[in-house]
Amino acid sequence: MAPFRIIYNDWKPEEQKLREALCTLGNGYIGTRGAAEENSNNNFNYPGTYLAGGYNRAKTKIAGRNIENEDLVNFPNWLCLSFRPEGGEWLNLEKVEIIDYQQVLDMKTGTLERIFKIKDPDGRITSIHSRRFVSMKDLHLAAIQWHFTPQNWSGNLEIRTALDGTVINDNVARYGELEGHHLDPLDTEVINENSILLQVQTKQSKIIMAQAARTQIYSRQKIIKSDISSHKKDGYIEQVFHFSAKEGKKYVVEKIVAIYTSRDKAITEASLEACKDIKRVGRFKELLFSQKEAYRFLWHRSDIGIIGSEKIQKLARLHIFHSLQTISPNTMNLDVGVPSRGLHGEAYRGHIFWDELYIYPFLNLRFPEITRSLLMYRYNRLDEARYAATQEGYKGAMFPWQSGSNGREESQILHLNPKSGNWIPDNTHLQRHVNSAIAFNIWNYYVASDDKLFLSYFGAEMFLSIALFWASKAKYNKERDRYEIHDVVGPDEYHTSYPDSNEQGLKNNAYTNIMAAWVLQKALEILELIEKSRKRELLRVLAIDDAEFSLWQNISKKMYVPFIKDGIINQFEGYENLQEFPWKDYQDKYEDIQRLDRILEKEGDSPNNYKASKQADVLMLFYLFTQDELKNILENLGYEFQEGMINKNIEYYSERTSHGSTLSRLVFSWIQSKYDKAKSWKNFETLIISDFEDIQGGTTPEGIHLGAMAGSLDLIQRNFAGLAVCDDALWINPRVPDSIKKISMRINYKKHWIFVAVNHEKIKISFEEGWSNEVNIGVLDELYKFKIGEVREFSLLTDTNVQ
Ligand code: BGC
Repeated sequence: MAPFRIIYNDWKPEEQKLREALCTLGNGYIGTRGAAEENSNNNFNYPGTYLAGGYNRAKTKIAGRNIENEDLVNFPNWLCLSFRPEGGEWLNLEKVEIIDYQQVLDMKTGTLERIFKIKDPDGRITSIHSRRFVSMKDLHLAAIQWHFTPQNWSGNLEIRTALDGTVINDNVARYGELEGHHLDPLDTEVINENSILLQVQTKQSKIIMAQAARTQIYSRQKIIKSDISSHKKDGYIEQVFHFSAKEGKKYVVEKIVAIYTSRDKAITEASLEACKDIKRVGRFKELLFSQKEAYRFLWHRSDIGIIGSEKIQKLARLHIFHSLQTISPNTMNLDVGVPSRGLHGEAYRGHIFWDELYIYPFLNLRFPEITRSLLMYRYNRLDEARYAATQEGYKGAMFPWQSGSNGREESQILHLNPKSGNWIPDNTHLQRHVNSAIAFNIWNYYVASDDKLFLSYFGAEMFLSIALFWASKAKYNKERDRYEIHDVVGPDEYHTSYPDSNEQGLKNNAYTNIMAAWVLQKALEILELIEKSRKRELLRVLAIDDAEFSLWQNISKKMYVPFIKDGIINQFEGYENLQEFPWKDYQDKYEDIQRLDRILEKEGDSPNNYKASKQADVLMLFYLFTQDELKNILENLGYEFQEGMINKNIEYYSERTSHGSTLSRLVFSWIQSKYDKAKSWKNFETLIISDFEDIQGGTTPEGIHLGAMAGSLDLIQRNFAGLAVCDDALWINPRVPDSIKKISMRINYKKHWIFVAVNHEKIKISFEEGWSNEVNIGVLDELYKFKIGEVREFSLLTDTNVQ
């Protein structure tokens, strides 16, 4: 059993694109899919390299309209490495006999290995052991090493190394009709006998990327003699090493690549820096050494140990690993957000949604510095959000549902239903609730990190701007004596308008309304928390006066929340009148009804007509807030909070949700944990395998689902280990599931590193180190003060301190 390794023991071309996404290597700056070095884009191989924040806009004529989309660009493929024996063909696993094949993702060191033996049509057997990594230590470097052995032949051969900038964005079939050419070639140069340089530029955003590659071939630690030729064409350059190989002898091919872009800091010019690096850098072995060191530190901070289920242990590590491939300490200095599909593929065009809400809880307790930097991505786009609000006639800031380079709305106007081939208007951008998610994230980052400076300066400015937006968006309804929010879409994207209505958006989505009320209430609290001088500044700069204050107070007491009956919150006003959906009939008719929207559209129908949701909507409230918090919010709004209301809502909406988003299982698993352990566990099991087994049937090859991945880790810490990050203390009240024996992790709470291990019998807590000598930790329902270095155990059987 190898808990840090994902091992594939066979060559399955049809699964290769899924494996590529799952074997993506990145460092928070770039990410490169686990494609084969020797092939370019074909039906089983898709080499994709993505730069964090590397977007480009392009126009396409679709359905008679000129549409502009912004894409996370597929940058040049630096992997290219191949060989051919004299008279033979360039390596292609589809054209040779594969004697054995193994692909191993070693998550402990961030390396990908491919170990295979092949026989070509002339009977030549060759074995190749390939290893590669994208350096976590030096964000600009990546390396590949081949151990190459002709097993039963001697003779001339060629090794080809290349940098390929002729790539296009072609990872997602349903985007096929959209413009996918994002790169212009700039320059190709042979630097010297072992090094080449490629420069490209994105067509519209004008990001220059320079890649320099140094390739050396060794035998017994000595560079072998070879004839080297080079070839280039627009956007592509290669070097070919010709030499004579001997049967049974091992040759070591090393390709070190340096990648810089015009977005980088502390550079003069990208190509100069890339060339400088490959001249200075040592051999593969040296780079690998620092790679291992960098990963040692990362795992020390972020590992979650699970005893009792090897499968869950491995998948949890896979989720930690891919979170860190997308966002790592290297991200901290970059102006980037979290793309919902990682740096692993092109689905959703690398856009940033509300998925941060599910991702930050994992980061907050391990890498709060990264959360801060990601929140700055939003702060840096505050002006664009202010402009968007003004354009719609609102005050404050209205952040986009889908965000990319400069923070304008990047949601597509039309989307393709791959089932019907129709282009359909996309109104999901009306998900204004993304604003509350940003506010919620600011607050929760503050609670976990105690970063008062951030809250006072950047956090409060964003938070108050969002509050201003909600206060101007909420409209007073005299008849009800309540405030209402219209023209929105809730998290459940299946409902974007009323049946037979031409108008977009819904009235009073309960989740949106309650979150807005929370934002307004919390904004008033934040103003009392931050530095007085900053408060004065902000009130003046944002023009918040007494009238605005009383409006906020009023709305946070009088926001309208629709109810159906008996404490069941109505997803939105009018939902109660929709038809019940014939779930059984559709389950019988179709194998998979997760994407009900596509099925119904194909049938000329729409989910707008039914009580059928894609994902948790009302139920999000129980995911984000504790029972007490929600009780306070609702009671403050003058609504009764009944005992048992939560479970009733869960039951009601469980029967009406198709789980068309991986986020849905996550929310369901958490909210069911108190009421129906079996269902909660089932949802957790589905969630944890959702990318590994590509349960949505084809979406993971287009990029992992980072919200679901990082969210599953939050479930482990919040649900199973029972951690509650509160302002007064870190509370621990474990509920370790039967199938797991022990969970352990190291977390950072308000600048204190605390090690927690829980099993069915006891909790062990060590306060390892921190910025102050004491930290408050609540165990079960009692508060303790821990001193630095203190280790204590608590019995779960007797509820008493056993040491
Ligand atoms: C979900 C959204 C999510 C987006 C990106 C969609 O399918 O419905 O809630 O933000 O994917 O992950």
